[in-house]
Amino acid sequence: MIFGRIKPLDAILATAEKKSLTRTLGAFQLTMLGVGAIIGTGIFVLTSEAAQKAGPGMMISFIIAGAVCAVAALCYSEFASMVPVSGSAYTYTYAVMGELLAWMVGWALVLEYAVAASAVSVGWSGYFVGQLQGWFGITLPTAIISGPYIPGGLVNLPAVIIALLITGLLILGTSESAKVNAVLVAIKVTALTAFIVLALPVMRMENFEPFAPNGWFGSGGAGVVGAAASIFFAYVGFDAVSTAAEETKNPQRNVPLGLIGSLGICTIFYMLVAAGAIGSPLGSQPVTSALGEWLAPGSAALGARCTELAGMGTEPLACSKEALAHVLREIGYLNIGNLIGLAAFLALPSVILVMLFGQTRIFFTMSRDGLLPEKLSTIHPKWKTPHVITAITGVGVTFAAAFLPVGKLADIANAGTLFAFFMVAVGVLVLRRRDPGRHRPFRTPAVWLVAPATMIGCIGLYVALPPDAMLVLPAWGAIGLVIYFLYGYRRSHLGRGIIEVPEMDDGRNTPGTH
Ligand code: ALA
Repeated sequence: MIFGRIKPLDAILATAEKKSLTRTLGAFQLTMLGVGAIIGTGIFVLTSEAAQKAGPGMMISFIIAGAVCAVAALCYSEFASMVPVSGSAYTYTYAVMGELLAWMVGWALVLEYAVAASAVSVGWSGYFVGQLQGWFGITLPTAIISGPYIPGGLVNLPAVIIALLITGLLILGTSESAKVNAVLVAIKVTALTAFIVLALPVMRMENFEPFAPNGWFGSGGAGVVGAAASIFFAYVGFDAVSTAAEETKNPQRNVPLGLIGSLGICTIFYMLVAAGAIGSPLGSQPVTSALGEWLAPGSAALGARCTELAGMGTEPLACSKEALAHVLREIGYLNIGNLIGLAAFLALPSVILVMLFGQTRIFFTMSRDGLLPEKLSTIHPKWKTPHVITAITGVGVTFAAAFLPVGKLADIANAGTLFAFFMVAVGVLVLRRRDPGRHRPFRTPAVWLVAPATMIGCIGLYVALPPDAMLVLPAWGAIGLVIYFLYGYRRSHLGRGIIEVPEMDDGRNTPGTH
């Protein structure tokens, strides 16, 4: 009867009512929180990966990924406005489809949040290395700036350092304040705007030919849809808005506005940035081997080919680890290119912070439900932070960042996120059926079209991921199932008849609330 273990929605809501988190966020701040979490490695780094997969067709890839997120956001909004509590997709699933599936969603969210934090750390590393080179002419040895996936690479030390630094900040209780977030959002938006303003006027229309050199569905994750599955990462994070529902004024109105607003703003920016990158002198055609074969991003073969091309004095877009800065330098704006790099260097750590914070919040919610050991969420007496789980998460994030390429990490994070989105869409429909009379402050429009479209979109992007990234989700899920049956099934508060949910924290350490 494990599917019968459903946590009553009213119990969840009653807990939220009792909690004393101050509702301080409005629609504008939520949108800023969303944009702060969304714009990051995806656009600043993975644009080169999308180019390698799709060529100029990556414009369409951005639209496809954005469209899937838009329909998913409409589903999230219905839940987030109805159940404005922490835990996001995990909590919604618990209330609608029961504990086992909720556990699986929470477990998949580890991929979304923790692995995304690793990916952004590696993305940041590329910009750090570029900054040293661009301003000071310092070139670090390959062995310490890349994992073993490229010839000569050993460990990505800058990624390790930033991941540990952010973990340390979170343990000490540093929360990103709304003011700091606003400054960083302004930096990112200014950088992207500068890129667009400088790159669009010199666009070469002939660069758009051939438009889709790898077709729609190439093998090994290539093609326009394959690139959409990877560039989906650029949109990950908008659901962070829903995790702040408990700290939001008038969440029924403001959460949907924040979700859809931040997504809309980012989509427009991404389209324009992609057009600028494609039209630049570098172009965006995929790099091929000397024999003309396509090379997968993150592969040793592409790494070797890029090294070879660098020896010949060229660095195509697909080889760059700091895509946007590189494009501007190629157009001739050397210093502005370096400044764009500086903007990414300054702003990307906040994305890592939001992702890592989100992860600890999800683990917290799961452990207060008894599905993870409560010891893990011990609060430090002085710093008032969940230091144990933050440290464990941080070490895992650091390890992945040390040895894996950014694109691989992003693809794995995407797999977990797509699963969570899929389950939210299913949940919205199930609840419409089961409890049609419940008050829904925000109703997903045309839900019988939008929710199935979300599901189809998630499946479509998932099967377009490279095979290894696709396999991680079921393997990770199997590990999760074993842990659930060995631990959570017996220790679950709900299973033991404890429905009351204890207070989680005192409202400190929530990004954007101070
Ligand atoms: N969307 C976030 C990024 O691109 C995760 O870095």
